[in-house]
Amino acid sequence: MFRMDGKVAVVTGGAKGIGRGMARVFAQAGARVAVLDLDEGAGQGVVEAIRKEGGEALFLRADVARLPDLQAAAGKVEAAFGGADILLANAGIYPQASLLTMEEADWERVMAVNLKGMFLAVKAFLPLLRRSRAGRIVLTSSITGPITGYPGWSHYGATKAGMLGFMRSAAIELAPYGITVNAVLPGNVATEGLGELSEDYRRKMEATIPLRRLGTPEEVAYAALFLASEEARYITGHALVVDGSQTLP
Ligand code: NAI
Repeated sequence: MFRMDGKVAVVTGGAKGIGRGMARVFAQAGARVAVLDLDEGAGQGVVEAIRKEGGEALFLRADVARLPDLQAAAGKVEAAFGGADILLANAGIYPQASLLTMEEADWERVMAVNLKGMFLAVKAFLPLLRRSRAGRIVLTSSITGPITGYPGWSHYGATKAGMLGFMRSAAIELAPYGITVNAVLPGNVATEGLGELSEDYRRKMEATIPLRRLGTPEEVAYAALFLASEEARYITGHALVVDGSQTLP
């Protein structure tokens, strides 16, 4: 159950954090994995770790805000692995910016990476996913935006809610091709992107989570693995919250 043997998975932002967790979990499940990221050093490290565990992976440098990068990567994935079955559109940034001082450029960068970058990844890999027997797209959204808010993340929340708007139409549109489109909505996950968390911040955060701890990248990855699996073939357009019930009222 939930095996990925014979599948090819592409993960954007796969060099660190949640994306790295996804790359490793999908490889452990038997998929061949393409790690796309800006950070070549960290990305190569993920590929080496996967190979050490007996898996197959390759790193491709790509900025998700740039279509030519993604199209070049899609060509290389096809050349190396013969196609792609699963796209994990995960790359995202979350710089905090107060609305009192947020500049147009701050807004545009977050939109370009998180929202446009998701679309461009889908656009670049859709020709390969269409050729798969069971194409899967899993978007990394967030609880921030679709469910809750966080000060300094209004632009970020807009992108993460926007991803779900995209998902619902895309799920219907791509259903005739046998492609499902779902999303994971992580709560607080300790990753490089969140930076070094002070003990005080971590304690305060954990106190708001019924399961009393932050999530791990692997715990988000397992949810994505389920949504990308053969067994989840009747699930599309679904937003799966992975937050230790932080957002339960
Ligand atoms: P991270 O910063 O630890 O890792 C993100 C990776 O994406 C890095 O390797 C980075 O180089 C790469 N990246 C950034 N911009 C890129 C671009 N333009 N093109 C290609 N790669 C790029 O971040 P983390 O925490 O793992 O977040 C991953 C995703 O999960 C993001 O979409 C984020 O919004 C989402 N998320 C994270 C949560 C958390 O608590 N860490 C909570 C909810 C959602």
